[in-house]
Amino acid sequence: MEGAPTRRILEVVNKCPTQALIWKYNKDLTSEEQKAQRHGTREEENPKTLSGTPQRSKIKIMKDGPIVVEGLYTVIGTDDQELKPTTMTSFCRCGSSHSLPYCDGTHRKIGFTD
Ligand code: FES
Repeated sequence: MEGAPTRRILEVVNKCPTQALIWKYNKDLTSEEQKAQRHGTREEENPKTLSGTPQRSKIKIMKDGPIVVEGLYTVIGTDDQELKPTTMTSFCRCGSSHSLPYCDGTHRKIGFTD
Protein backbone atom coordinates (compact mmCIF):
# COMPACT_ATOMS: atom_id res chain seq x y z
CA MET A 1 0.00 0.00 0.00
CA GLU A 2 1.86 3.07 -1.20
CA GLY A 3 0.90 6.66 -0.69
CA ALA A 4 -1.74 5.93 1.96
CA PRO A 5 -1.59 7.71 5.31
CA THR A 6 -0.04 5.72 8.13
CA ARG A 7 -3.34 5.58 9.99
CA ARG A 8 -5.06 3.98 6.95
CA ILE A 9 -2.29 1.41 6.50
CA LEU A 10 -2.54 0.43 10.14
CA GLU A 11 -6.32 0.10 9.89
CA VAL A 12 -6.07 -2.24 6.91
CA VAL A 13 -3.30 -4.35 8.44
CA ASN A 14 -5.04 -4.58 11.81
CA LYS A 15 -8.22 -5.87 10.12
CA CYS A 16 -6.43 -8.69 8.26
CA PRO A 17 -8.43 -11.78 9.34
CA THR A 18 -5.63 -14.23 8.64
CA GLN A 19 -2.92 -12.09 10.27
CA ALA A 20 -0.92 -12.51 7.08
CA LEU A 21 -0.41 -8.75 7.09
CA ILE A 22 1.50 -7.23 9.96
CA TRP A 23 3.34 -4.03 10.76
CA LYS A 24 5.96 -3.09 13.29
CA TYR A 25 7.93 -0.16 14.53
CA ASN A 26 11.64 -0.01 13.91
CA LYS A 27 12.33 -0.02 17.62
CA ASP A 28 11.84 -2.41 20.50
CA LEU A 29 8.38 -2.01 21.99
CA THR A 30 7.44 -2.37 25.62
CA SER A 31 4.95 -5.14 26.37
CA GLU A 32 2.21 -2.52 26.73
CA GLU A 33 3.06 -1.03 23.35
CA GLN A 34 3.02 -4.50 21.78
CA LYS A 35 -0.38 -5.21 23.27
CA ALA A 36 -1.78 -1.88 22.09
CA GLN A 37 -0.34 -2.53 18.65
CA ARG A 38 -2.04 -5.92 18.34
CA HIS A 39 -5.36 -4.54 19.44
CA GLY A 40 -5.12 -1.44 17.29
CA THR A 41 -5.47 0.91 20.25
CA ARG A 42 -2.24 2.81 19.88
CA GLU A 43 -3.04 6.51 19.74
CA GLU A 44 0.06 7.81 18.06
CA GLU A 45 1.97 6.36 15.18
CA ASN A 46 5.09 7.95 13.83
CA PRO A 47 5.41 7.21 10.10
CA LYS A 48 9.17 7.68 10.29
CA THR A 49 9.47 4.65 12.55
CA LEU A 50 7.35 2.23 10.51
CA SER A 51 9.29 -0.34 8.55
CA GLY A 52 6.81 -0.46 5.66
CA THR A 53 7.75 -4.10 5.12
CA PRO A 54 5.55 -6.80 6.63
CA GLN A 55 7.59 -9.07 8.84
CA ARG A 56 7.04 -12.81 8.70
CA SER A 57 7.18 -14.86 11.83
CA LYS A 58 9.86 -17.52 11.98
CA ILE A 59 9.47 -20.91 13.65
CA LYS A 60 12.62 -22.91 14.20
CA ILE A 61 12.78 -26.41 15.62
CA MET A 62 16.02 -26.62 17.57
CA LYS A 63 17.91 -29.90 17.47
CA ASP A 64 17.48 -31.65 20.82
CA GLY A 65 15.66 -28.57 22.11
CA PRO A 66 12.64 -26.29 21.96
CA ILE A 67 10.64 -24.77 19.15
CA VAL A 68 11.60 -21.11 18.89
CA VAL A 69 9.01 -18.71 17.49
CA GLU A 70 10.15 -15.25 16.52
CA GLY A 71 8.21 -12.34 15.08
CA LEU A 72 4.79 -10.85 15.68
CA TYR A 73 2.28 -13.37 16.93
CA THR A 74 -0.18 -13.98 19.72
CA VAL A 75 -0.12 -17.03 21.98
CA ILE A 76 -3.55 -18.08 23.24
CA GLY A 77 -3.72 -20.39 26.26
CA THR A 78 -6.14 -23.24 26.90
CA ASP A 79 -8.41 -20.75 28.66
CA ASP A 80 -8.60 -18.65 25.48
CA GLN A 81 -6.61 -15.89 27.16
CA GLU A 82 -3.59 -14.27 25.61
CA LEU A 83 -0.36 -15.36 27.23
CA LYS A 84 2.62 -13.08 27.62
CA PRO A 85 3.06 -10.63 24.75
CA THR A 86 6.50 -10.99 23.23
CA THR A 87 8.30 -11.23 19.93
CA MET A 88 10.25 -14.42 20.73
CA THR A 89 9.19 -17.54 22.59
CA SER A 90 10.73 -20.96 23.13
CA PHE A 91 8.13 -23.69 23.42
CA CYS A 92 9.01 -26.91 25.19
CA ARG A 93 9.25 -29.94 22.96
CA CYS A 94 10.53 -32.44 25.52
CA GLY A 95 7.49 -32.20 27.82
CA SER A 96 9.60 -31.86 30.98
CA SER A 97 9.65 -28.08 31.42
CA HIS A 98 8.48 -26.77 34.77
CA SER A 99 6.88 -23.78 33.04
CA LEU A 100 4.96 -25.39 30.19
CA PRO A 101 4.31 -24.52 27.46
CA TYR A 102 7.62 -22.66 27.61
CA CYS A 103 11.08 -24.17 27.58
CA ASP A 104 13.02 -23.67 30.80
CA GLY A 105 16.16 -25.51 29.78
CA THR A 106 15.19 -28.81 31.42
CA HIS A 107 15.67 -30.59 28.08
CA ARG A 108 19.45 -30.33 28.61
CA LYS A 109 19.27 -31.83 32.11
CA ILE A 110 17.23 -34.82 30.96
CA GLY A 111 19.27 -35.38 27.80
CA PHE A 112 16.37 -34.86 25.40
CA THR A 113 17.25 -35.86 21.85
CA ASP A 114 15.34 -35.85 18.59
S1 FES B 1 12.43 -28.35 25.30
FE1 FES B 1 13.40 -27.16 26.79
S2 FES B 1 12.49 -27.78 28.63
FE2 FES B 1 11.50 -28.97 27.15
